[in-house]
Amino acid sequence: MYFAKGFLFLLPQTLLLFLLQFGFSQDTITISKPIRDGDVLVSKGETFALGFFSPGVSTNRYVGIRYYRAPEQSVVWVANRDNPINDTSGVLSIDVHGNLLLHVEERNQSIWSTNIVTQSSNNCTHAQLLDSGNLILVLNKTSEVLWQSFDYPTDTTLPNMKLGLDRTTGLNRILTSWKSKDDPGTGNCSYVLNTNSSSPELYLYKSNILWWRSGHWNGFGWSGVPLLSHPNYLFNFSIVNNQTETTTSWVELLPDIFSRLVVDESGSIQRFLSREGDQGWFSLGSAPLDQCDNYGKCGAFGKCQLQNDTEFECTCLPGFQPKSPSEWSLRNASSGCVKKRGQASICKSGDGFVKVENVKLPDSSFARVDEKLSLQECEQQCLENCSCAAYGGVDAKEQVGCLRWYGELIDTRVLNGGQNLYVRVDALELGTQQFSVISGNFSYHACMQC
Ligand SMILES: *[C@@H]1O[C@H](CO)[C@@H](O)[C@H](O)[C@H]1NC(C)=O
Ligand SMILES: *[C@@H]1O[C@H](CO)[C@@H](O)[C@H](O)[C@H]1NC(C)=O
Ligand SMILES: *[C@@H]1O[C@H](CO)[C@@H](O)[C@H](O)[C@H]1NC(C)=O
Ligand SMILES: *[C@@H]1O[C@H](CO)[C@@H](O)[C@H](O)[C@H]1NC(C)=O
Ligand SMILES: *[C@@H]1O[C@H](CO)[C@@H](O)[C@H](O)[C@H]1NC(C)=O
Ligand SMILES: *[C@@H]1O[C@H](CO)[C@@H](O)[C@H](O)[C@H]1NC(C)=O
Ligand SMILES: *[C@@H]1O[C@H](CO)[C@@H](O)[C@H](O)[C@H]1NC(C)=O
Ligand SMILES: *[C@@H]1O[C@H](CO)[C@@H](O)[C@H](O)[C@H]1NC(C)=O
Ligand SMILES: *[C@@H]1O[C@H](CO)[C@@H](O)[C@H](O)[C@H]1NC(C)=O
Ligand SMILES: *[C@@H]1O[C@H](CO)[C@@H](O)[C@H](O)[C@H]1NC(C)=O
Ligand SMILES: *[C@@H]1O[C@H](CO)[C@@H](O)[C@H](O)[C@H]1NC(C)=O
Ligand SMILES: *[C@@H]1O[C@H](CO)[C@@H](O)[C@H](O)[C@H]1NC(C)=O
Repeated sequence: MYFAKGFLFLLPQTLLLFLLQFGFSQDTITISKPIRDGDVLVSKGETFALGFFSPGVSTNRYVGIRYYRAPEQSVVWVANRDNPINDTSGVLSIDVHGNLLLHVEERNQSIWSTNIVTQSSNNCTHAQLLDSGNLILVLNKTSEVLWQSFDYPTDTTLPNMKLGLDRTTGLNRILTSWKSKDDPGTGNCSYVLNTNSSSPELYLYKSNILWWRSGHWNGFGWSGVPLLSHPNYLFNFSIVNNQTETTTSWVELLPDIFSRLVVDESGSIQRFLSREGDQGWFSLGSAPLDQCDNYGKCGAFGKCQLQNDTEFECTCLPGFQPKSPSEWSLRNASSGCVKKRGQASICKSGDGFVKVENVKLPDSSFARVDEKLSLQECEQQCLENCSCAAYGGVDAKEQVGCLRWYGELIDTRVLNGGQNLYVRVDALELGTQQFSVISGNFSYHACMQC
């Protein structure tokens, strides 16, 4: 439907294929072969197409990329999202400098441009739409890729496309929602990899408010999205966090699958799947899931658990109590929880840990990560430092990998398929916790400093 107003998109696909065979189709734009509104660029394997389109009820014209053979056309990238053309005179061409340039017929004033080739006019370039959905601008002489659409995502990621930071260029790839179904302009919701931390998480922002996080990386996927955080037959997720980049990406493991991840204008992240011949796109699920997914819902040291109508979904972690009981009684947990008996008594005098089961661990951006430590070593490290508030395993099976929190525990929620959080409590609290777990080694911990 999105492309329906483009001339060629009105043609039945068989006729289109017929035309393609007679040379109407191309996957490359050169200085002598621009594309005009109504033309379509098709990748070699006919996986993706690029053309002019009008979204929804809009009559504005945009240049976009979509899956070519997917059942229901969905735009995965838009060039001029904030600068539409108001008629069908648009032309996408290579300009005299070698940039990809969108302009209107008879005027070469830029509506959108790659703006990358700045030097003299001797650079000969061409643009090509690849079967990955990536549009690249290539220097003819050296085949060097000067620019690629994958580096400037709109609201969608595709397989093999990275989100996150390239430290060598400073480029940070984030997703930003459309304004509405009828307007691909830059919207209010963005999906960003937090690249400042040794344990990066994906953050969803709504009008600059942190709205949801993915959970820490558990070795296979993002722990706050249990469905996709274990090895599975559909996707392989990966993360790179080193001196040159902090990025995440995913690939499809099955052939002939179309897939995409979209952040929409309501602030929902959805993963879609489809195949040729399917009726439409199948949603594999979305995030945020529910109100407990709202970032920091229960404040610092709080825990969110979905309840039926009668009870408040927020409680405090073991050893903590509401900072403001009056606010709390009005079901406002934003000021969070504080230690029951203050700071003084807690450390190295019989304190230990209480296991909180089946949770999305607190925001790991504030945690220390040691990939090599066992859970026992993790506990010991945490116990030895009085400012360590809690620890947990990196992966769900707690085989290897240690997360330790030294500040506030933010955004802990009960989650089906979640992990265990071990919260530090004082001796008195430990005594009151019938089911407290301190790795079955109470005497050792209790007497460490005796
Ligand atoms: C279309 O946009 C051009 C400038 O970009 C403007 O001069 C023209 O008046 C607009 N036409 C309509 C019908 O809005
Ligand atoms: C635009 O057109 C003018 C004349 O038609 C030409 O001199 C100029 O180089 C062109 N600019 C670009 C960016 O193509
Ligand atoms: C373009 O050409 C100029 C000189 O002709 C050169 O200095 C520059 O590096 C070339 N490449 C780009 C990407 O501008
Ligand atoms: C640049 O390379 C493309 C693709 O190989 C080719 O079609 C085009 O003619 C070349 N441009 C020039 C000016 O040689
Ligand atoms: C974006 O947020 C602002 C302020 O919250 C609001 O006024 C505006 O309508 C929002 N825009 C969209 C497209 O949702
Ligand atoms: C990362 O650090 C930069 C610079 O200190 C800051 O501007 C940015 O907001 C931080 N990002 C996150 C997700 O905290
Ligand atoms: C997933 O990717 C990693 C590295 O990116 C690779 O080592 C692993 O074999 C892949 N798994 C599957 C099932 O393809
Ligand atoms: C970071 O990881 C990427 C991808 O694995 C690799 O290409 C790059 O060389 C690494 N950089 C460093 C400094 O190790
Ligand atoms: C509400 O939750 C309580 C305790 O979890 C349970 O006993 C009760 O049946 C629930 N009520 C409804 C209406 O689901
Ligand atoms: C909750 O309490 C905080 C003060 O801690 C206040 O700023 C906020 O407006 C309250 N929220 C609601 C919904 O009342
Ligand atoms: C405890 O950990 C904090 C945070 O890592 C660190 O700044 C502090 O020096 C540590 N204290 C001791 C006694 O090791
Ligand atoms: C308690 O832990 C210490 C240190 O990890 C270990 O040496 C000791 O054998 C443990 N004792 C028991 C009873 O498990």
